[in-house]
Amino acid sequence: MEDAYGHRISYLRVSVTDRCNERCRYCMPEEEQAWFPKEEVLGYDEMLRVLRVGARLGIRKVRVTGGEPLTRPGVADFCARVSAIPGIEHLGISTNGTLLAKTEGGLTLAEHLARAGVRAANISLDSLDRAAYQRATSRDLLPRVIEGVEAALAAGIPSLRLNCVLMKNQTEREIPALMEYARSKGALLRFIELMPVSTSDVLRDENFLSAGHALRLVEREHGPLAPLPDFKTNGPATYYQVRATGQKIGFIGAMTNLHFCESCDKLRLTSDGKLRPCLGSWLEFDLRSVLRAGCTDEELEGFILGVVARKPKEHDFRNNYQPNRKMIAIGG
Ligand code: 5AD
Ligand code: SF4
Repeated sequence: MEDAYGHRISYLRVSVTDRCNERCRYCMPEEEQAWFPKEEVLGYDEMLRVLRVGARLGIRKVRVTGGEPLTRPGVADFCARVSAIPGIEHLGISTNGTLLAKTEGGLTLAEHLARAGVRAANISLDSLDRAAYQRATSRDLLPRVIEGVEAALAAGIPSLRLNCVLMKNQTEREIPALMEYARSKGALLRFIELMPVSTSDVLRDENFLSAGHALRLVEREHGPLAPLPDFKTNGPATYYQVRATGQKIGFIGAMTNLHFCESCDKLRLTSDGKLRPCLGSWLEFDLRSVLRAGCTDEELEGFILGVVARKPKEHDFRNNYQPNRKMIAIGG
């Protein structure tokens, strides 16, 4: 599948729930909390059908997201069924990590995910200081996340990434500890620029810390970093390497990197069944109605191709973008 700008679409991010057990300031503030009603959320079978048809059209990579995906019962079984779809070559999950060490039937959720073919876990980690973590997420769950990272390592999930959203006057002092922790765990650390994907008042200029600034802070500690232009994971991160230790650090400059969207290969399926061609665009298309009206696979293919054809050239974050739904309801 190719869009009007030559983006080859091979990656589908599937949000399995809009619910979360944390309340990150930049994602879902404590106030107004209206989850999607159950009947509006796609069933796993509905999602799997979209994925099967998507795989026929060239989807090769899938990422399961939320909300917090591990709050939805049965997510590991769902992952196993995703892995079994012909054509799907890579399956990852994005999680806040708080539930990875939870046990079900004698195994941790991380082990269930590893057995289900999950090859990469992106774990959100903004701080290693318990009080700061609590301030950032409104929950005192840092110890659970640390256990979750251990559970993911013990389960042998091949690729672990720690994602830190850059916040001015917060992240600056976290950088050394986050780097040391990621290095000691063999995880890739990535710094993500704050994006306007929530109605929270946190998304103001005075909280914005650019990827370039974060890079300079890292360099202040570790000396000039070596750019790694050829090192790519499955996303738009740009990687650099600490020369002395070989540690790789990713920077996701959604706001400041003007080439950010050039290599985009993604579509997003929200938990209420909307197909979105871009995180930073108003555009979304109601796949659920089509599915529930009893469409054929051919009609579903046509729908997906139609969404791909409407994929914008780039996100609209820099142009006074007003989200019509929050990140939590899109899937990070
Ligand atoms: N800006 C940037 N990243 C965000 N995330 C959630 N909200 C925002 C935002 N406003 C991140 C989470 C997580 C991933 C799913 O998305 O920290 O790592
Ligand atoms: Fe939950 Fe992740 Fe949003 Fe934080 S960023 S509130 S952990 S979905």
